[in-house]
Amino acid sequence: MATSTRSEGRAGSAAPLHTGWRAGWRAWLKGAAYSGWGRDRWQRPAEVIAALEIQPGVCIAELGSGGGYFTFRLAEAVGPLGKVYAVDVDPDLVDDVAARARRFGANAIETILADPEDPHLPAAAVDLVFTSNAYHHLSARADYFRRLRGCLKPGGRVAIIDSNGGAWFNKLFGHWTARSVIESEMRAAGYRLERALDLVPAQHFLIFTPTE
Ligand SMILES: C[S@@+](CC[C@H](N)C(=O)[O-])C[C@H]1O[C@@H](n2cnc3c(N)ncnc32)[C@H](O)[C@@H]1O
Repeated sequence: MATSTRSEGRAGSAAPLHTGWRAGWRAWLKGAAYSGWGRDRWQRPAEVIAALEIQPGVCIAELGSGGGYFTFRLAEAVGPLGKVYAVDVDPDLVDDVAARARRFGANAIETILADPEDPHLPAAAVDLVFTSNAYHHLSARADYFRRLRGCLKPGGRVAIIDSNGGAWFNKLFGHWTARSVIESEMRAAGYRLERALDLVPAQHFLIFTPTE
């Protein structure tokens, strides 16, 4: 099976990694800033992954994969026959996740260097789009997720985790989205809410499916 690659704007094409020590440190610092200390205690990653009901062998696209906090856990869930596209606009983080995926033999992971308005995912390829703490970074979200429907397989789902503004840090920096905003934007993009999970305090966890 192919090892992870960094794809410049397109899934599947290998591009050279820039993994000098400066890029490595930048990626480490950003990943640490996104996760903080002791994230496992409040993020409850095992429960989040279990709630997604991921079948081995499926294809997941993680939008805004950052330092890979969920990427490697998703890769474990899909197993060696599955695929996880780790999609981000930050080349430091994309390269760092690709390098760690290769180092740890996480062959299910393929990185994609996205453009802000285009994740460059292949058409009709993805069973689950997953995004954690990145929704508030996206702009023109109804258009973005409407286009994203073309990447989903029949029966595909979109799972959105984002801060609900309950944590002072996220509120202070505007790193959150009201649930009503997510729901109305996703409705406008052509999805309906399938499940709303109450797993993690201060975060929404909403699962959508495309309407016909
Ligand atoms: C707060 S971090 C969250 C990282 C990770 N999902 C986590 O939970 O730790 C948000 C990430 O979204 C990425 N991002 C921002 N805009 C994006 C876009 N338009 N497309 C893809 N990724 C984006 C950022 O580069 C950053 O890595």
